[in-house]
Amino acid sequence: MSKPQSAALVRNRYFDELSATPGLYWLGQNTNHIESHPAVREAMLRSIEAGEFNAYAPPLGFEALRAAIVADLGVPAAEALVTEGGVNALAMICRARCKPGTTLVTTDPTWKWPCLFARQQGAEVIEIPIYDPACNYRLTPEALKANVDERTAIIYLVDPNNPLGIRYTREEIESFAAIARDCGALLVHDCTYRDFADGHTPALHVAPKGSVVSTSFSKWLGLAGLRIGALVAAARPVRGTGADLYQRARRQRHRPARGAGRVVGQGRMDEEGPQHRPGQQGDDPGGRRRDRRAGAADHALAR
Ligand SMILES: Cc1ncc(COP(=O)(O)O)c(C=O)c1O
Repeated sequence: MSKPQSAALVRNRYFDELSATPGLYWLGQNTNHIESHPAVREAMLRSIEAGEFNAYAPPLGFEALRAAIVADLGVPAAEALVTEGGVNALAMICRARCKPGTTLVTTDPTWKWPCLFARQQGAEVIEIPIYDPACNYRLTPEALKANVDERTAIIYLVDPNNPLGIRYTREEIESFAAIARDCGALLVHDCTYRDFADGHTPALHVAPKGSVVSTSFSKWLGLAGLRIGALVAAARPVRGTGADLYQRARRQRHRPARGAGRVVGQGRMDEEGPQHRPGQQGDDPGGRRRDRRAGAADHALAR
């Protein structure tokens, strides 16, 4: 007798079958299918030969990688937290910031996962339609302003947009950052596709205190299977700003390893004290369990 199959198992096996089909052009796998750069291949092979895969990375990621990420973004004063793909950075932000009574404001189309994470926290998701020649297929400051208020916890901007491919100018990013500042929201700038755009401006260039940036190694280097991304925020934690959130998210991610996190986050840890436990804000008891994809990654990392 065959075992009953859950929808998750059926989906997983289907995904697995597609992955194992030689010669299949799987257009839904939105990664970089161009052959890896020889330097990247060589670096990976060198790392394998040296057996570096044996070691756990430090809680925030290897220092060389963290430094390279902030240098690449042009924000040397910021700090990078290396995450299991960009999705994990975004899940942490949503978990830290969203709760019932708050909103996450984004575009339609957008990248849907953060919307799911926000809803899991009980937040409302507002998607501003941009698939429209009238707005030139982009978010305008006017449309954003009309959709935010004091409930807005996160303005989530995918730039370049997936799937539209449009990218925003520095002036537009400045306007979005100003709107976020005025309503007390955090501007979450998803820069996953920045390497495919000319003249991209990470929000940290214009609003280091009110924004965080998420990045991914899945697209520009085609390393989706390695699960590498980052959350980047201003180095100096200030309560209520992106940097404050960065500290909170970092502690959430390393919940079981808070001792190690304390070494780096001393200032905030001392200020908030033990009553302000990781995950407290906007977390509900089932939230972590429901966020299966990111939660599983957290769990694996914590061991
Ligand atoms: C806009 C956007 N952000 C984030 C991600 C997450 O990328 P990853 O978790 O593979 O780093 C994706 C992946 O498709 C994406 O399209």
